[in-house]
Amino acid sequence: MRTINVELEQRQERSYPIYIERGILDEVGPGLGRLGLKGRCALVTNPLVRSICGERVIKSLEGAGFDVLTVEVKDGEQYKILAEASMIYDRLIEEKLERSTPIVALGGGVIGDITGFVAATYLRGVPYVQVPTTLLAQVDSSVGGKTGVNHPRGKNLIGAFYQPRAVFIDPDVLKTLDKSELRAGLAEVVKYGVIWDEGFFRFLEENTQGLSAVEDALVRAIERSCEIKAHVVKEDETEKGLRSILNFGHTFAHAIEAVTGYTRYKHGEAVSMGMVLAASFSARLGVCEETVADRIENLLKTLGLPVEAPELRYEAILGAMLVDKKVLSGRMRFVLAKKIGDVVLRDVQREEVEAFLRKAAR
Ligand code: NAD
Ligand code: GLY
Repeated sequence: MRTINVELEQRQERSYPIYIERGILDEVGPGLGRLGLKGRCALVTNPLVRSICGERVIKSLEGAGFDVLTVEVKDGEQYKILAEASMIYDRLIEEKLERSTPIVALGGGVIGDITGFVAATYLRGVPYVQVPTTLLAQVDSSVGGKTGVNHPRGKNLIGAFYQPRAVFIDPDVLKTLDKSELRAGLAEVVKYGVIWDEGFFRFLEENTQGLSAVEDALVRAIERSCEIKAHVVKEDETEKGLRSILNFGHTFAHAIEAVTGYTRYKHGEAVSMGMVLAASFSARLGVCEETVADRIENLLKTLGLPVEAPELRYEAILGAMLVDKKVLSGRMRFVLAKKIGDVVLRDVQREEVEAFLRKAAR
């Protein structure tokens, strides 16, 4: 089993392990026991994930002596909302769950985010663990403690930083995942190579076949992604500085998602297109060579991800970016690529963004 520790500076009591192992779903119960948790627990999942692997996790928890309350949230991003969180609170209150009772989040990023938020707020905070079942959740959302729900006015507007007690990652659970979901998760994997580790980026370039199924290359990619994320979160838990590098490509991606009503593209697909834009913007500003942008685009394309959205008008993207971003004295902050494995935060004049988008749209 691979264990990666998320060591939170000066807060040793909140540091936690990420366990990565094929088949670890059957070990979640004993794992919770080793964390000193016992008695009752709540399992939050959705009907699809429950039908795929929920019973295995429940069996593991019951086998370790837990009395399990299972709560199902409807499947879909549209249910990552306060009303659904409230439904979970209702169940926890009806069942009189106490402050020491852990909650297990079993599912993709939607389940992880809403469950983490409920755990952060129910009785002012109860322990929770993440058992992510999508690639995106395994390499990104289950690690780092960003929890929350959406608001009608925007995504993730309500939330809290609240770290799990442990993360249990079973790569085998990805075997049932839709291929398009797997590809979407790979966009975030590529991001780690771009922002942090040229060697890892090269590994991805050399193993594109092995990344499209649950093979050793994919397991290695999950491990390295978690290592990098753990390192960044350790340095900057609440995104005062360094953590914003995890948003490489995301300013463009959020705008693409907003303009298309959050329905046409999966988040990872938008991140793929956003990273290509961020890289070519970096080249245009002279921060990196054109070849850096080409390399990023080629890898994403080879992995089957979209790299451009020609149907979108640049004015709409710029408009969405201006709503999304804090524009301070006409300047917008971007994560720009210096080379593969190294990025920099830079404030850019709004006019430069506009000129770039106008040209990119041609
Ligand atoms: P998701 O949770 O909606 O899962 C995608 C689909 O896959 C769902 O239908 C789900 O039921 C299904 N599914 C899950 N596991 C499966 C499995 N093993 N086999 C078959 N189907 C399975 O989407 P996602 O991409 O995992 O997460 C997206 C969410 O994550 C967004 O809400 C986003 O805001 C959030 N997010 C959070 C962070 C963070 O740091 N907290 C980071 C990135 C994204
Ligand atoms: N997904 C970005 C972050 O966790 O900060």
